[in-house]
Amino acid sequence: LGKRILFFKELPSTQDIAHRLLRYGELSGTVVWADRQSSGRGRLGRSWFSPPHRGLYFSFLLKDIPEEDLPRYGLATALGVARALESLVGVPVHLKWPNDILLQGRKLVGILVEAGAGGAVIGIGINVSHRRQELPEEIRKKATSILEATGLKPSRARLLRHILEALEPLYEGLPHERWSEILTEWRQRDITYGARVILVSGGRRHKGVALGPDEEGFLVFKEPLGKLRRLHSGEILLWEA
Ligand code: BTN
Repeated sequence: LGKRILFFKELPSTQDIAHRLLRYGELSGTVVWADRQSSGRGRLGRSWFSPPHRGLYFSFLLKDIPEEDLPRYGLATALGVARALESLVGVPVHLKWPNDILLQGRKLVGILVEAGAGGAVIGIGINVSHRRQELPEEIRKKATSILEATGLKPSRARLLRHILEALEPLYEGLPHERWSEILTEWRQRDITYGARVILVSGGRRHKGVALGPDEEGFLVFKEPLGKLRRLHSGEILLWEA
């Protein structure tokens, strides 16, 4: 991972370039990194706030990944980024299904996993040194940055290296038996585990108690009448411990 890293001052979205490289047969693991994105994309059709100098925005391509494995790659990616952040910044972070990373209960990292031509493109956006007042109004209460939460401002290049190094062994372990270890650690870091939640999926709302991701990466939750259900995509809107 990261044998080749392509850096750009500005791109519409690192995600789109990584998709194009995947189609052209670029080496698996190549990273596309931009200082700023003019149309950074998030999950569920949202945009990702990507001003210059303040964040780390990158995508990489992985070849030969079956589509049904993508949720597991998403979970493993969130765990790897969480480990890298903790070792570099020294503060505990939490995970929120499917692949958000929270610091002090606010979103710090977003991860986008997309199927591409014969593989996958994984994009990671990290708020490194945004000041609260610089965040757009609609995310100001829900988002944070490393600087805002800890007073630290790690170098983005170092952060990127740390993350790539943390991800590699996790991806290697994925197709094998180590998946269950990944899942166990994920659940330990899951901020909504056992919490009463409101979930949104496909325009519908569900209430229940979140029980974390299952073997396939689906979210398991218990409905008020006790029935267990699974969601393959969607969002946890609210949670209370
Ligand atoms: C989310 O909605 O939480 C996922 C956000 C993913 C943002 C990253 S930034 C680098 C890459 N390029 C994009 O356009 N999006 C992803």
